Amino acid sequence: MSETRAAQANIGVVGLAVMGSNLARNLASREGNTVAVFNRSFSRTELLTTEHPEAGFIASETIEDFVASLTTPRTAIIMVQAGKGTDAVISQLSALFEPGDIIVDGGNADFQDTIRREKENSAKGLNFVGAGISGGEEGALNGPSIMPGGSVEAYKTLGPILESIAAIVDGVPCVTHIGTDGAGHFVKMIHNGIEYADMQLIAEAYDLLRRVGGHSPAAIADIFAEWNTGELNSYLIEITAEILRQVDPKTDKPFIDIVLDEAGSKGTGVWTVQNSLDLGVPVGGIAEAVFARAVSAHPEQRGPVRATLKARPEIAIVGDTFQEDVRQALYASKIVAYAQGFDAIIAGAVKYGWNIDKGAIATIWRGGCIIRAQFLNRIVDAYNNDPSIPSLLVDSYFADAVATSEAAWRRVVSTAALSGVPVPGFGSSLSYFDSLASERLPAALVQGQRDYFGAHTYHRVDMPGTFHTLWSGDRSEIATEASTH
Ligand code: 6PG
Repeated sequence: MSETRAAQANIGVVGLAVMGSNLARNLASREGNTVAVFNRSFSRTELLTTEHPEAGFIASETIEDFVASLTTPRTAIIMVQAGKGTDAVISQLSALFEPGDIIVDGGNADFQDTIRREKENSAKGLNFVGAGISGGEEGALNGPSIMPGGSVEAYKTLGPILESIAAIVDGVPCVTHIGTDGAGHFVKMIHNGIEYADMQLIAEAYDLLRRVGGHSPAAIADIFAEWNTGELNSYLIEITAEILRQVDPKTDKPFIDIVLDEAGSKGTGVWTVQNSLDLGVPVGGIAEAVFARAVSAHPEQRGPVRATLKARPEIAIVGDTFQEDVRQALYASKIVAYAQGFDAIIAGAVKYGWNIDKGAIATIWRGGCIIRAQFLNRIVDAYNNDPSIPSLLVDSYFADAVATSEAAWRRVVSTAALSGVPVPGFGSSLSYFDSLASERLPAALVQGQRDYFGAHTYHRVDMPGTFHTLWSGDRSEIATEASTH
C-alpha cells in the first residue's frame, strides 16, 4: 500500500455513478466528514471533483492510494452494480484493508450474498456490512433511509457516519442497525417488495378512477393530491399526482397515455416473493404486484387473447361515492400489503437468527425511502404497543381502519370484476383478509384430497392425532404417523 498519501478521510466511496456520487456529496456536506473517492475509470472521479470542488474530496487514481487516504478504522462504502462488480471491489479492498476495517456494500445485494461475504471477511478480521440504501438518486444526495446490517462493532464507527447523511423525521435519523450479517439487505429487499405492492395498488386505483370513474388523468392527479393530505399521505401518492398531471411535450397528450404499458423490474420484488415462499409467509399483495408486471410484459399473449374476445363487459355505472370507495379500498389493501411484508421480516429474523426491532424499521421508513409515508407512524405505534402482535391487522388502529373500509373495499373489488378491470392487488388483499377472517377454510377439502391421492394424512377437529382414510379399501379411518412426503 502506498504510504505517500496522508490518511485523512474518515469515510470513502467506491463507485461514482449517480448514486455513488450523490452519496459522496451528501457525506462531504456533513460536518466532520472528509470523503475519499475512487472509481475504476478515473475520468469519472475527475468529473465529480471538478464539478464539486466544495466537497473537498480526497480523490485517488488507484485503489491502493484510496485505501491509504483513509483513517483507521478504514471505512469504505461500495456503490457499484450488485453481483460480480461488488465482489471484485470487495476482494480488492479486503486485500488492502486490515483487521477492524469496515467494508460497506450499499447496493441492492442479495442478502444471502451478504451473509456469505460477511462470513468470509470476518474470518480475516474485517467488518463487512450490507446496507440497504433507499430513496433513489435524490435520497442519496439529500437524505436516504439506510438499513445497515453487519456487526454491532462495525456500527459503532459506521452508525454516526450514516446518521450524518440519513433523512431526518421528527429529529430522528432514518437509519438504525437492523441486525447482524445480511439483516440489512434482507429488510431492504422486503422494503422493495412492499414498494412493488404499494405502486401496484396505486396503479389499480388510477385504473379504476380512469376506466370506471371516467376521470381524466389531470382530474385523477387532483384526486391523488387530495388523498395525499390524509391517511394515504406518502411519497408514492405525491409523485403519482405529478406523473398524472404531466403532459407529453411531443404530442400534448397526457404523459400517462404515451407510456407503453409493459412494466420492468430489477428483481428485488421477485426476491421478496421467492424468499417469502421459502419462509412460508403469504405475501399475496407483493406477489400480485410482481405478477402484474410480468403479465403486462407479455404482449405476445395479451394481443392474441384480446383477439379471441367476442365482447368485454359493460363498465359498471358508479355514483359519486365511487372515488371515496376506491380511496378506502386502496388504504385497506395497503394495510394488508404492509402487514404481509412485516410478517416476512418476522419470519426472516427467526430463520436467520436476527434480533430485528420492527418498530425501529417502521421508524426509519418514515423518511428518505421510496415507501415513506405518514402511515408508518401507525406501524411504529402498533409495534411499540405490542411487538409480538400476530399481525398488524390485529392492532386496534388497523383493525378499525379495515372495518371502516371493508364495505367500500368489497364494492370496489366487485365493481372491478363486473367491469372487467383487473385489480389483482385489491382482490388478493381482500381474499387474504377474508381467509384470515373465515371460521372454516376449504383447506379441509385440500387435506381430504391430499389424503385421498397421496395418503398425506390429516388432523381432526374433534380429537388429537394424525389420521388417514383407507380410500381404496373399506374407507375406514386409521390413526397413523404424520406423512413425511
Ligand atoms: C429504492 C428503490 C431502488 C430500486 C429501484 C428499481 O429503495 O430506492 O427501491 O432500490 O432498485 O426503484 O426497482 P425496480 O426496477 O425493481 O422496480
